Amino acid sequence: MASASLLKSSPVLDKSEFVKGAQTLRIPSLATIRCHPTTAPSALIVKASAYADELIKTAKTVASPGRGILAMDESNATCGKRLASIGLENTEANRQAYRTLLVSAPGLGQYISGAILFEETLYQSTTDGRKMVDVLVEQKIVPGIKVDKGLVPLAGSNDESWCQGLDGLASRTAAYYQQGARFAKWRTVVSIPNGPSALAVKEAAWGLARYAAICQDNGLAPIVEPEILLDGDHGIDRTFEVAQKVWAEVFYYMAENNVLFEGILLKPSMVTPGAECKEKATPQQVAEYTLKLLHRRIPPAVPGIMFLSGGQSEVEATLNLNAMNQSPNPWHVSFSYARALQNTCLKTWGGRPENVKAAQDTLLLRAKSNSLAQLGKYTGEGESEEAKKGMFVKGYVY
Ligand code: 13P
Repeated sequence: MASASLLKSSPVLDKSEFVKGAQTLRIPSLATIRCHPTTAPSALIVKASAYADELIKTAKTVASPGRGILAMDESNATCGKRLASIGLENTEANRQAYRTLLVSAPGLGQYISGAILFEETLYQSTTDGRKMVDVLVEQKIVPGIKVDKGLVPLAGSNDESWCQGLDGLASRTAAYYQQGARFAKWRTVVSIPNGPSALAVKEAAWGLARYAAICQDNGLAPIVEPEILLDGDHGIDRTFEVAQKVWAEVFYYMAENNVLFEGILLKPSMVTPGAECKEKATPQQVAEYTLKLLHRRIPPAVPGIMFLSGGQSEVEATLNLNAMNQSPNPWHVSFSYARALQNTCLKTWGGRPENVKAAQDTLLLRAKSNSLAQLGKYTGEGESEEAKKGMFVKGYVY
């Protein structure tokens, strides 16, 4: 396993090795190959990332059979909205109590392979004084970290947005690695009703590619998440068309940035009709469109596709995932849900210590249902009415 000391010996070319016009490519598990300019003027310089083996291992561990990701990386502002929905104040103590409940649910690691944390949680302890990160590792859950700095308006576009966070990302990711994080998340969005404009798609794809390259240089396997928002009344064919364009650009720029595809994870939206479309799609239709998209655009080198839930109900997100796992796929097809794992858990807790166990049981139930869906074995029996309620919010800000 690569250690943090590798940072110091990370693959930076010496001046003497630098050749004008040459490129640096990272290829896993290959020894460094250097071609001297005098013997091969147009040859490539190929170097393995110091972390290549570890990145591949991390991505494979997160993409392990019957497991998926618990996204618990709500920013303080979003977490505040969640706490307000159960009548709690947005204090650090309340956020800590809720996240302690999540990470310490007994046996969670059977169904959950990775947990995405907000920065506060990465450095926080549980209410009984253990580091959140240590509790996760004990549960065999890989700690991850949200590294983007959120969305802001994209000047020159059709009221669209872009995702901030590249400045200082190299030093932040190095520090997060030291703190125990092994993967990262960057969520940008694409809006169908607002275009999407070519500018917004290009910006989203380029930002994701730069982020992914920087994370890999610092030992974090990047989750690449261009969320195509559910907002709109468009049909499923339009979502498919936009998703094809978005993923083509994301992979184009990731290749240009020499991102190691074996050491990334994807977090796509499922291909569904817009939330306000009159025609609804069945899980079989969602699976058919989504798998067609993935087959056309995603190389099999990518180990895991971890879907977001995006405002679907808990049960809907699980049924759709299950439908995608009815026959073997070239990648691990799984979940990285926030709302679709936490909704009933949060409501069951209601901020009351006496409800912690019941809330943890509901989290485990959702995690188990999605674990079964990852294996294509979920039946949908015995689900509560609460779990069937949609969670779409127009213009939702994460
Ligand atoms: P949802 O599953 O609530 O859409 O969350 C997505 C996300 O990006 C959280 O990390």
